[in-house]
Amino acid sequence: MSKGGKYIPALSFDWLTPLYDPLLRWGMREETFKRALIVQAQIKPGQRLLDLGCGTGTLTLLIKQLHPDSEVVGLDGDPNVLEIARGKAAQAGVTITLDHGLAFQLPYPDGSFDRVLSSLVLHHLTSEDKQRAAHEVFRVLRPGGELHVADFGQPRSAYAKLLAPVMQHLEEASDNFRGLLPEMFRGAGFAPVDEPAQFTTVFGGLSLYQARKPT
Ligand SMILES: C[S@@+](CC[C@H](N)C(=O)[O-])C[C@H]1O[C@@H](n2cnc3c(N)ncnc32)[C@H](O)[C@@H]1O
Repeated sequence: MSKGGKYIPALSFDWLTPLYDPLLRWGMREETFKRALIVQAQIKPGQRLLDLGCGTGTLTLLIKQLHPDSEVVGLDGDPNVLEIARGKAAQAGVTITLDHGLAFQLPYPDGSFDRVLSSLVLHHLTSEDKQRAAHEVFRVLRPGGELHVADFGQPRSAYAKLLAPVMQHLEEASDNFRGLLPEMFRGAGFAPVDEPAQFTTVFGGLSLYQARKPT
C-alpha cells in the first residue's frame, strides 16, 4: 500500500479499533487536548483545513462544529476507521470530506490548505516516514499556513518522566519521547516551530506543537 512499508492502525491491531474512542476519552484527556489544539490553530472563517490521520474523526468533527464556516478534510490510511468517521459525521449531521491516503504521500496539490492539524499520528510513523510526512505537510500548506500537532513529546512532568522509559517503546514513539519532532519540522522548512503546551495523560506527556510555513 505505501512506499514506506510499515503501517500501524489506531490501536496497533485492527481488531482493537472499536475500543479506540473509549480508550482515548478515558486515558488521554481527549476533549481537553483536542479543544486546546483547535484554539491554538486560530482558525478563521473560510479557511481550508486538513486533519492528518483523522482516525474515527473526533477531531475532524469538532473542528467543523466549532468552525462551521471552514472547509474540513480528514485523511487516514485505514478504510475501517474512515467508515466509523463517516458514521459519526452522518449521525452528527456534519459535512466533512473524508479521504483515504497516506500521510507521507498526500493526494493534494501544493498550497491547498491553510492549516494542517494532526493528533496522535506521528508516533505511528517510522523516523523516515515522519520526515516525509513533514515535507508533505509543508508542500500542501500555503505560504504562511500552519501545522498544529498533538502527540507524545519529551516528558516534562515527573509522572511523564517516570513513564517515558516504557512508553518510548510504543509503536514508533521513540523520536517523540526524545524530543525530535521540532527538529523534523524545522528540517522540512517550517519556522518558527514551538511547543506551547504539554498535557500529562495516563500514557505520558502529550505535547502540542505549532510550526509555520514561511511566507
Ligand atoms: C492513534 S490514531 C489517532 C486518530 C485521530 N487523529 C485521533 O486523535 O483520534 C492514529 C491514526 O493514524 C492513522 N495512520 C497511521 N499511519 C498512517 C499513515 N501513514 N497515513 C495516514 N494515516 C495513518 C491510523 O490509521 C490511525 O487512524
